[in-house]
Amino acid sequence: MRRRVSAVIRFARQTGQLVALAWQAQPACFSGVLVLNVTQGLVPVATAWVTKLLFDLLAQALQGNTPSNVVATVLPLLAAQALLAALSSTMTHGSTFLTAELSRRVTLQAQLAVYRQVNRFVGLRYFEDPRFYDRMQLATQGAMMGPEQTVHIFSNVLQSTVTLSGFLVVLLAFSPLLAALYAGAAAVRLVVELKLGRYRLLLAEENSPQERQASYYGSILSGLPFVKELRLFGLADYFLARFRRGYQAIHRAQRRQQARELRWESGLGLLSSLVASAAFVVVVLQAFAGRISLGDVTLYTSAVGSVQGGLTGLVFAIASLNESLLFFRRFTDLAALPEPMPVASPGRPIGRLTTGIKLRNVSFRYSEEHPWVLRHVNLTIPANRCTALVGSNGAGKTTLVKLLTRLYDPTEGHILWDGTDLRDFSPAALRARLGAVFQDFAQYGLTARENIGVGDVRRLADRDRVQQAAKSAGIHEALAALPQGYETLLSR
Ligand SMILES: Nc1ncnc2c1ncn2[C@@H]1O[C@H](COP(=O)(O)OP(=O)(O)O)[C@@H](O)[C@H]1O
Ligand SMILES: [Mg+2]
Repeated sequence: MRRRVSAVIRFARQTGQLVALAWQAQPACFSGVLVLNVTQGLVPVATAWVTKLLFDLLAQALQGNTPSNVVATVLPLLAAQALLAALSSTMTHGSTFLTAELSRRVTLQAQLAVYRQVNRFVGLRYFEDPRFYDRMQLATQGAMMGPEQTVHIFSNVLQSTVTLSGFLVVLLAFSPLLAALYAGAAAVRLVVELKLGRYRLLLAEENSPQERQASYYGSILSGLPFVKELRLFGLADYFLARFRRGYQAIHRAQRRQQARELRWESGLGLLSSLVASAAFVVVVLQAFAGRISLGDVTLYTSAVGSVQGGLTGLVFAIASLNESLLFFRRFTDLAALPEPMPVASPGRPIGRLTTGIKLRNVSFRYSEEHPWVLRHVNLTIPANRCTALVGSNGAGKTTLVKLLTRLYDPTEGHILWDGTDLRDFSPAALRARLGAVFQDFAQYGLTARENIGVGDVRRLADRDRVQQAAKSAGIHEALAALPQGYETLLSR
């Protein structure tokens, strides 16, 4: 019970987060969506009411009690009917536009937030952890679809709630018993849908590593780095088989889930048609007994139909809202991850290196499960000198550079920059003093100038500095000779 309550609380809190996000994304748009949806929700109720009045007049007329001035009585009602129809269709288009605009904004905000979260980590530790990688994938995927779905579903929920409340009041006045019956059937449905939603999520989480693996095989089958070996060693069939097996396993799990949904949904469908038929019988019997007017019959039948459809839609929307809100859970998971290394802030001021860098008894391993890469290393790298570090493959040279650049911290010992521990500087200030080209350096699909400029992004637009750098590196002539010189796009 307590778990259920806390799930409801979490649901409410996440809905609140979404509303806040949507509001921040664009207050005007959000208010517009709100107003339009509430008004739109009232339209069916108003229409049903006007129809009831019309039918009552008609019934009177059929009994010979024609109103003295037919035009004056009927015309306003017909006009109201037409106005409501026109209003409804205009609002539908307006709300479609505003909802789309709002979800564009919210989606962009959410994506920016996820990428910002991913890039806030100063250290690299998490990026080698497959669990983190899965979580990041889920959060990024969630940011692509989640917010948009949530905004749409949210506005549907809002509108259906308004319509439903209106008709429920009507129904409640007619027969509290019937209203209770509906509420009960809806509650059953809600519980089942939420359960199914939870299963769907579990499935997605369970499938995530498998999907990543299968799509990895896909990337081998279509990726440039692999074309040579695939042909030389005849590997295509091997990876095709693994790709197929991976997806077959995923499909098996999905099929199981959908069979489960099929069973439950059929049962629920049966239940709700029973309830609807019962309600109809009650209304018709009451009418024949003369307890309600013809107008009442039209009102109640449309109330019964709307409440039925509305409840089903609402329950379904709440269940999918719950599902798409899970994006927020993944996102907050990501946001809750602590920085993998201590970050000094503001940090000691860092100047140009004057004496040198000293490693004092430095030991390092990538994690507790990994062997020591460096053990008790003592080393001085003097300033203003060129120092080469030589060692066999896997000796730990790159690892040492990762420690110097604080992508990792030493497991034991200290690294001193002119006597100050690297950990006492802010990583950004330290890195502003460093340049590094790794073996697996990144090539950006940008212009030649930008590819050089990313080394010091503040000077990216400074052509002279970029050329100077290129001249020192001995690449200036080659770049100048490119079709568009420094502005040539360096893509394949
Ligand atoms: N991210 C990592 N996780 C675990 N072990 C790693 C990682 N990177 C490198 N290693 C291991 O650390 C050792 C040193 O690697 P590295 O510093 O790249 O050597 P070098 O650059 O001298 O060839 C190797 O045994 C390598 O397998
Ligand atoms: Mg290396």
